[in-house]
Amino acid sequence: MIMTKKFHRGATLHFPKNTLCPEQNYQYLEDAILITEHGKIIDLVDAELFLTTHPVPPEQIVNHSGLLIPGMIDTHVHYPQMEMIASYGRQLLEWLNDYTFPTEAKYVEQHYAAQQADEFLQQLFAHGTTTASVFATVHPQSVDAFFTAANTYQARMICGKVLMDRHCPDNLRDTADSGYRESKILLEKWHHQGRALYAITPRFAPTSTPEQLVLAGQLAQEYPDAFIQTHLSENTDEINWVKTLFPDAPDYLGVYERYGLVRDRALFGHGIHLEPREYKTLASNHASVIFCPTSNLFIGSGLFPYFSVKEHGIPVAIASDVGGGTSLNLLVNQAEAYKILQLQHQNLNPFESLYLCTQGAAAAMQLEHQIGNFNPGTEADFIELDFGGTPILKQRIKQAKSLEEKLFALIMLADERVIHQTYVHGQQVYCRQ
Ligand code: GUN
Ligand code: ZN
Repeated sequence: MIMTKKFHRGATLHFPKNTLCPEQNYQYLEDAILITEHGKIIDLVDAELFLTTHPVPPEQIVNHSGLLIPGMIDTHVHYPQMEMIASYGRQLLEWLNDYTFPTEAKYVEQHYAAQQADEFLQQLFAHGTTTASVFATVHPQSVDAFFTAANTYQARMICGKVLMDRHCPDNLRDTADSGYRESKILLEKWHHQGRALYAITPRFAPTSTPEQLVLAGQLAQEYPDAFIQTHLSENTDEINWVKTLFPDAPDYLGVYERYGLVRDRALFGHGIHLEPREYKTLASNHASVIFCPTSNLFIGSGLFPYFSVKEHGIPVAIASDVGGGTSLNLLVNQAEAYKILQLQHQNLNPFESLYLCTQGAAAAMQLEHQIGNFNPGTEADFIELDFGGTPILKQRIKQAKSLEEKLFALIMLADERVIHQTYVHGQQVYCRQ
């Protein structure tokens, strides 16, 4: 395929650098050109200034009437759980037993996993997400299926085989040894293969024996740039269970810490009920906490203390956690994040919540030199948002007096209709009909 330069013309918004104050550190251009070539961003320039000095053949210009932003990054999501989203009436531990484990057992079938992986990726793109950190199942073939599908779109995706050698059904159980071996084979096969990156994925402390966690830590040491993803302090019954299973650990995080799993590129889903020592340890070890708003509300887990986590200097991102979460749309998850903070008498600025799904999410994964912004040299993953996507949003936007107000209305009222187009590696992968 011949790849030529493309000139995407429209309004653009991004956060060019890591910041604690996104509302003061965004770049908005009302009429810009995002220049892409070979899957990369070449430049972001003012359209009129650029076109006066650089004549561009009209067929190379793609006009966008909406707002271009970097593709959103879902830092915690379970692809096999897409089909069990919105399962009724349970909190975490019963929800896992009643709904999650029976669903994940289906992914023993590679053909089924492949079909679901492709559907999941298409749904991510339709919801404006271009990168995700994804839990597969305990079956290695579920990871092969996912990365194979992701590579057909040249999408930057992170995924790992779930490690789980106790407190789960027999058909979902590995062993400390098989979990280590299978993960290592997958890591060798997929990490840095195309845009794929591997995540060592112990499900959570209760479903791994100490022996399994030792080997997960060993794998992490062997591959210092691999990701680690797991769950932490989501639910109070879960925390009490961890205390009985690991009585010598100082706290929940202390279990992971003991096995060398708290480090750069470690992503801890939830972290709702953390102790002071856990905050300090996460910060000093450069690990990240992932805020999953729709999941925290849906499974009834609690109100995420966003500002405490931020004030401790811990990188944070907002994620969907589907199927605990009820929407793959990270704009919808931002709306629920806003409400979770309202219940704590705090406000989440719309620039900040958007940052937590773009540049901030990339920073939490230490991927900001590749994704999350429009800086030259980064990868050309971006989406077009449509402020006229729903009739009510369209009306509300007419009343908006600032970009901040427009963005806030978009986030609060968003559904799939506001995602107009999605580009991955410079190519269109979704266009709303
Ligand atoms: N804790 C352990 N496994 C899971 C899971 O699949 N989803 C959520 N939300 N929490 C978990
Ligand atoms: Zn999860």
